[in-house]
Amino acid sequence: MKNLLIIVFVLLSGVVARADEGMWLLSKLKEQNIDEMQRMGFKLTAEDIYSVNQPGIKDAIVGLGREGRPFRHFCSGELISPQGLLLTNHHCGFDAIQSHSSVEHNYLADGFWAYKMEDELANPGITASILERMEDVTDRVNAVLRDDMSETERAAAIDSVASKIVKEATEGTVLSGQVQAMFEGNQFFLFLYTIYKDVRLVGAPPQSMGKFGGDTDNWMWPRHTADFSMFRIYTAPDGSPAAYSKDNVPLKPKHYLPVSAKGVKDNDFAMIMGFPGSTDRFTTSFGLENTMNTTNDIRYKVRTEKLKIMGEEMAKSPKTRIQYASKHASCANYWKYSFEQNKALNNLKTKENKIAIEQEFTNWVNADAGRKTKYGDVLATIQKAYADMSNYSAATVYLQEALGGPEVHLFAYRSGKKLKDLCDKNISAEKKEEIKKSLQASAADFYKDFNTELDARLFAALFKLYHDQVAGDLQPEVIALIDKKYKGDFEKFAQDLKKQSVFMSEEAFNAFMEKPDCKKLEKDLAYIAGKSYFETWIKLSAYSNEMNTKLAKGNRLFVRGLMEMNPEKAWAPNANSTIRLTYGKVRSYKPRDAVFYDYYTTLAGVLEKEGPKGGEFEVPAKLKELYAKKDYAPYGDDYLVVNFITDNDITGGNSGSGVINANGELIGAAFDGNSEAMSGDIDFEENLQRCINLDTRYMLWIVDKFAGAKNLIDEMTIVK
Ligand code: ARG
Repeated sequence: MKNLLIIVFVLLSGVVARADEGMWLLSKLKEQNIDEMQRMGFKLTAEDIYSVNQPGIKDAIVGLGREGRPFRHFCSGELISPQGLLLTNHHCGFDAIQSHSSVEHNYLADGFWAYKMEDELANPGITASILERMEDVTDRVNAVLRDDMSETERAAAIDSVASKIVKEATEGTVLSGQVQAMFEGNQFFLFLYTIYKDVRLVGAPPQSMGKFGGDTDNWMWPRHTADFSMFRIYTAPDGSPAAYSKDNVPLKPKHYLPVSAKGVKDNDFAMIMGFPGSTDRFTTSFGLENTMNTTNDIRYKVRTEKLKIMGEEMAKSPKTRIQYASKHASCANYWKYSFEQNKALNNLKTKENKIAIEQEFTNWVNADAGRKTKYGDVLATIQKAYADMSNYSAATVYLQEALGGPEVHLFAYRSGKKLKDLCDKNISAEKKEEIKKSLQASAADFYKDFNTELDARLFAALFKLYHDQVAGDLQPEVIALIDKKYKGDFEKFAQDLKKQSVFMSEEAFNAFMEKPDCKKLEKDLAYIAGKSYFETWIKLSAYSNEMNTKLAKGNRLFVRGLMEMNPEKAWAPNANSTIRLTYGKVRSYKPRDAVFYDYYTTLAGVLEKEGPKGGEFEVPAKLKELYAKKDYAPYGDDYLVVNFITDNDITGGNSGSGVINANGELIGAAFDGNSEAMSGDIDFEENLQRCINLDTRYMLWIVDKFAGAKNLIDEMTIVK
C-alpha cells in the first residue's frame, strides 16, 4: 500500500504533465498541443497561430525590451489595430509614463491620453520585437559538441556555431536573431525577430486605477486593477524598423487582434501568448533550498530595509515621490514575491515533491548499468555544487541587493573611464567634447530620478547590512576604509559622502567635468565605493564560476535523464524570455479551506475597496461619477467586469500578454499571478495557480467613457 501510494504521489506530483502546465514553443504546437487545444474548445488551427508561410496571431504579439538588450523582454504586449496600436500593462509602461512626468505634468497621477497621433510621446531606448520565425537548430549545435569537452570548451563551441547560424539567417535582412538553449542546454532554437525602435506612449489611466490596490493587492486575487497602458509602434516610411524620427509612420502589422467586448464565462478556453522571463521547473531539492534560504530570504530582508528608507523619503516631497515611483514599485514587487514564494513552497510541500522526483530518477538510473555510467553521480554533483557554493551565493545576493541598493557609486564607477579620458593629455579636444556630451546625457538621465539624501541613507543602512552579514574576506575595500577611517560608523561615512563626493549632485558632477581632476577622482568616496563594488563582484564570480559550471553540467544531465525516463511526455522548456503560448481555461478556485474565489470582479468591487485619497485604494472622482451613472453599454449592462482569472501558465515577462479566446480574439491582458501559488515558477500547481487578467471590456470602457479617446476606439476592431 505504501509503495502504491508513493507511485500515485509521484504520478500526481512531478514528472507527469499536468493539465495546463507548459509555456509551449510555437513551432511545436502542431506536434505537441493543437489536438488538445481543439479538444478544449480552440476553434482555429496551429497555422493560424504560427506558420512560416502565412501571417498569424504571432504577428500581433510583441516583446518589449531595451536597447542594448532587446532579447531580455521585460514585458509583453499585443497589437490591436491596423496602425500599430499596442496594448500592454500599466506597470509595464510605468517607467515610460514616469519619465514623462513632472510635478507640473504628472501623468502618473492624472493619466495621459493622446487624442491625436502628433501628441504621442517618444520613448528612446524601448524596443518592440515581433517574431518572424523560429527554428530547431539542435542538430547543428550538437554537431560541434563532444562529450569529452570541458564546460568552457562547450560554451565556446556553442557561441561560435550560434553566431554563424544567426549571421546566415539575418545577413542582408532587417531581422535580429538569437540562438537560445532550451531544457538546460539539451536543445537549441533560433529565434528571428524584427525589432522596432520607435515606440510611443499613447495612453494610460491615472495610477490610482492602473495600479489600484498598490502593494497591498499585488500578487493577490480578488483584484480590481486597470493595469493597462497603450503604445504605438512606428517604422520608417518603408515599413522597416528605425529609431525615432518625426518622419516615421505607424506600423502596418501583418496581423492585429480583434478586441472582444463579449466577455468570458467560467471554463471558457483561453490562451496567452507572450514572453515569459524565467522559470526553474527542473530544479532539484538542493536548488530549491538555495532559492528559499538564500535568494528569497536575503532579498526579502534587504529590501524590507530599502523600502522603508525609500518610503520615508518619498513621503517628504512630491518630487521625490515621482522620482522614485518606478524604483519603489519594482523593488516592492519581488520583495513581496520572495516572501509569498517561500510561504507557498512551504505550504505546498514543494521540497517533498522534488525529493520524490529525485527518488524516482535514482531508481530509474540504478536499474540499468548504462544509465549508471551516464547519470550515476548527477544528483550528488548538484548537491555538492550547492554546498560548496553556499557562502558565495549568499554573498552574491547580498552584493546585488545591499551593495547594489544605493546607486550613486555605480554611476560614479561607470562614468569613471570617460572622466579619466577627460584628464588624458593624449586625447584631442574634439574627442573630449564628444565624451563630455555623452557624459552629460547619462548624467541628465541619472540625476533626473536621484535624491541625494535618500541615496546616502541607503548607503549607510545597506552597506552596514553587508558588512554585518558577509564574511571578512568578501568585504569590499570601501568597507575596510569605513572600518578604519570611520571606526565602522556608516552614518558618518554617508555624511562625508554627501559632503565630499562630486557625484552627489548633477551640478557638482557637471562642474567636475568642466575641470576634471583625476587625482581627486581616485579619492572620491562614491568612486571608491563603486570601484570596490565591481572588484568584489569580480572576486565573487571567480569563486562561484567553477561551481556554477559543475551545476550547469549537472542540471543539463539531470534534465536529459528525466526526458529519457519519460520519452512519451510532451515537455515544455523553462521560460527564457522567448515567445511562448500557454493554454487553459477561465477558472474559479478555492484558495483555502471553505473559501471560494469567483472568476471575475466588477466595478462595484473597486468602490467597495475605496480608501483615502493619496493611498493605494484611492478612487478618482470621475470614476465614481461614471459608476453612479451605471453607463456601461456596450461593454456591460448591470455591471462592468474589471478583472478575471484563468489557469494559464505564466510568469514575469508575460505581463501585458494577450489573453485570447477560442476565436483568436483578445479578451484580456495578463498582469499578475496569485500569491497562493507563488511557488509556480518552481512547481506548477494546477489547482491553485491562476493568472490574473485585465478584462478587455474594462479597458474599452475606460478608453471610451473615462478618457473619451474615441480616436483609439475607432482604430480597433471591436467584436460585440
Ligand atoms: N506582480 C506583477 C508582476 O510582477 C506586477 C504588478 C504591478 N502592480 C503593483 N501594484 N505593483 O507582473
